[in-house]
Amino acid sequence: MQNTLMDNKLLNNSGTDMLTIARPDDWHLHLRDGAVLESVVADTARQFARAIIMPNLKAPVVSVDLAQAYHDRICRALTANGIQKSAFTPLMTLYLTDNTTAAEIIKAKASGLVHGVKLYPAGATTNSDAGVTNLLKHCGPALEAMQEVGMPLLVHGEVTDPDIDLFDREAVFIDRVMIPLRRAFPDLKVVFEHLTTREGVDYVTQAQGPVAATITAHHLLYNRNALFQGGIRPHWYCLPVLKREQHRQALVEAATGGSGRFFLGTDSAPHPKGLKEHACGCAGCYTALHAMELYATAFDSVGKLDQLEAFASLNGPAFYGLPVNQGTLTLQRQAYVIPAELPMADTSVVPLAAGETLGWAVRA
Ligand code: DOR
Ligand code: ZN
Repeated sequence: MQNTLMDNKLLNNSGTDMLTIARPDDWHLHLRDGAVLESVVADTARQFARAIIMPNLKAPVVSVDLAQAYHDRICRALTANGIQKSAFTPLMTLYLTDNTTAAEIIKAKASGLVHGVKLYPAGATTNSDAGVTNLLKHCGPALEAMQEVGMPLLVHGEVTDPDIDLFDREAVFIDRVMIPLRRAFPDLKVVFEHLTTREGVDYVTQAQGPVAATITAHHLLYNRNALFQGGIRPHWYCLPVLKREQHRQALVEAATGGSGRFFLGTDSAPHPKGLKEHACGCAGCYTALHAMELYATAFDSVGKLDQLEAFASLNGPAFYGLPVNQGTLTLQRQAYVIPAELPMADTSVVPLAAGETLGWAVRA
């Protein structure tokens, strides 16, 4: 095992060897489409009862009709895996564009199928070309309708201005977009997705009104050194990119600190191995397979396993106005070796920290 954050000394801070929590949910997930969907959805359904499904397909999910069709493909993929429809619920989202209408938002709310609308600033990340060019200038009617009907805005919080340093994109987004947005729409429910900085934690902690944030396992476990440890490591490359250690520590404090504003969102984002290990590698870490093992490792590292249930299973449903899941999930302190590679359809995906050993495993 390499010298990483998962060293044994970090694994044994709490005496607990077994942890049973209400079945968790993933409030930020990329399932993709087509041939890989079947494998990807099975990994998630093994651990989570529900997931917020990101809409950044190659042809983005910009309407309720497209969300319904995608939902049905996900359900077919579950059935193909022998997974009961009742065992996993995909919570669909719409992809916000400059042209999203208030009528589409009202239709989305009425559908009962759509639980959020995702803001991708144009050019910010994978499949974001159709994203928003100027939020307040172009999306006023949609945002107004969302505020009115209680439809959350899920935010990829990075500016795309090429003059801004890559590592500062989230902090600048708060000043340039988040603050003006929330001044204009103070009652809009907002989820600051995949938070990565101390500035983000401070903003969400102190904000007035209905603001929350998801935090990934990789941003809890790694700082930006992980990208360069022994050479460039593309499987640690995601957006927003990993940050300095002080930011990782702020995220761990937020996730484990008992505030209901922070909850679990893996941002698990599979890319074929060949497109990660590439001259212009794709952004995204695949963590759906071992998400709860990774989160347990992060919480255990600071002796806060007792806070995992709130973060993984309680805070998200409370924010989204959904019930807590009925079933449970049990984690056991035992060695878990992360597979080196996962065959998927006609390709393969390398999971985060492939080949390393974690100290926690989900009990089958
Ligand atoms: O690392 C990322 N991968 N960040 C995103 O925002 C998108 C995601 C993807 O879809 O691959
Ligand atoms: Zn994402």
